[in-house]
Amino acid sequence: MVQFTLPKNSKITRGTVHEKPQGAKNLKEFRIYRWNPEDGKNPHVDTYFVDLDECGPMVLDALIKIKNEQDSTLTFRRSCREGVCGSCSMNIDGTNTLACTKDLDDIKGPVKVYPLPHTGVVKDLIPDLTNFYAQHASIAPFLKTETPEPEKEWPQSREDRAKLDGLYECILCASCSTSCPSYWWNEDRYLGPAILLQAYRWIIDSRDEATGERLDNLEDPFRLYRCHTILNCTKTCPKGLNPAKAIANIKRLLIERRF
Ligand code: SF4
Ligand code: FES
Repeated sequence: MVQFTLPKNSKITRGTVHEKPQGAKNLKEFRIYRWNPEDGKNPHVDTYFVDLDECGPMVLDALIKIKNEQDSTLTFRRSCREGVCGSCSMNIDGTNTLACTKDLDDIKGPVKVYPLPHTGVVKDLIPDLTNFYAQHASIAPFLKTETPEPEKEWPQSREDRAKLDGLYECILCASCSTSCPSYWWNEDRYLGPAILLQAYRWIIDSRDEATGERLDNLEDPFRLYRCHTILNCTKTCPKGLNPAKAIANIKRLLIERRF
């Protein structure tokens, strides 16, 4: 029989409200998504209170403080703490972003923290990015050449190097792809904005000699053309990049090569 409601065990319930730190004068409330595949419980939202006078300025600082001082079971990814590794991406205050660069001062009211949307959840705030990484591997993210290797490095003019600006800075945090409705519904076949931006980074690299092969790989109604220019990707990118423009550039190259 067709089931029109979510199964019972997928409904998000109210979780534990943890005690407020004693003597704190500058409290901020955090509502954090929790799910542990091993305890058989429904996903739930736990509430914590953090004394901002004793905490660093970013959301990640607060998460680390909660984990260190209140609840060591809270699970999330992080590494660099300065916006370069991409591992702390999550949904904060309704937007996909990096916890380590999201300023607490910019959030009014309780801080709501969820994993990246429309991904499987490994545990708590950790999304399952297996498919995302497989898609990245599928675009061959490395230099492909046929001419013999030079003795030193592959040379590149300043102008050609400048074409990589706005592309090489992508840290593969997946904030853009997981904000894209087309990717939500077709992530098995549509590559999504992050991977397409990465694909364009290699297509446009003057040193690469596999441009035709790379474009052939993308000329497909799903892999590329599921982009409907919704622009959530560009709006959400915490590094200020423009995946929608990279996708438009790929589409333009595909048209140009027909003539
Ligand atoms: S384009 Fe921006 S949002 Fe998308 S993966 Fe790269 S850094 Fe993250
Ligand atoms: S911890 Fe590396 S980007 Fe946030």
